[in-house]
Amino acid sequence: MSDYQIAPSILAADFARLGEEVDNVIASGADIVHFDVMDNHYVPNLTIGPLVCEALRKHGVEAPIDVHLMVKPVDRIIPDFAEAGASYITFHPEASEHIDRSLGLIREHGCRAGLVFNPATPLSYLDYVIDKVDMILLMSVNPGFGGQSFIPGTLDKLRAARRIIDESGQAIRLEVDGGVKMDNIAEIAAAGADTFVSGSGIFGCGQADDPNHYDSILRQMRKQLEQVGSV
Ligand code: DX5
Ligand code: ZN
Repeated sequence: MSDYQIAPSILAADFARLGEEVDNVIASGADIVHFDVMDNHYVPNLTIGPLVCEALRKHGVEAPIDVHLMVKPVDRIIPDFAEAGASYITFHPEASEHIDRSLGLIREHGCRAGLVFNPATPLSYLDYVIDKVDMILLMSVNPGFGGQSFIPGTLDKLRAARRIIDESGQAIRLEVDGGVKMDNIAEIAAAGADTFVSGSGIFGCGQADDPNHYDSILRQMRKQLEQVGSV
């Protein structure tokens, strides 16, 4: 499969120039905007909400927006993000009292739904809801902060998730989030991921005054991915 998608995490962008940062990274060839929502409750950090998602849409961002909810509870905020222009909404199963209902709620609001797995969270949460999932997101760090190192055990978990997806016969994306950079993206793709979140690996690599400064990093990431061949 060569349908690889790169999803820069705006957590590492310059928030004072967010619209411009997103425009530049999409113009440089990124596919999806990864949007990290933290509540200082489910994770020990606080970030952005539906108003910022809506502001990006109003600014003219047309790329899919991949809302990664690190909030508890999740259901109250789902319709707000759908209204604000989210494309994907993913959540951590530990943060929802009723996982099946939350997945259904996301789709009912016209978005694609996903479950997020922390490093220690078993994939068995998928057993009875695989037909309600459009994306599986494996965390390769503990959620809450950008700039952490990739946890190597994620590679085996990716292989297991890839098997589950293939056996389901469904079109489910397999996304990985945390510590993804130029030097490990090929290995991560070879383990089965097809969607790559990268925050500091992309936004941490440019010169802010050059509008094309993300071109080179994204081109090099694509080159790494081209060499992987089939998933
Ligand atoms: C962490 C977030 C990630 C984060 C990744 O909780 O979910 O999306 O921005 O940042 P990097 O790529 O710097 O590890
Ligand atoms: Zn994330």
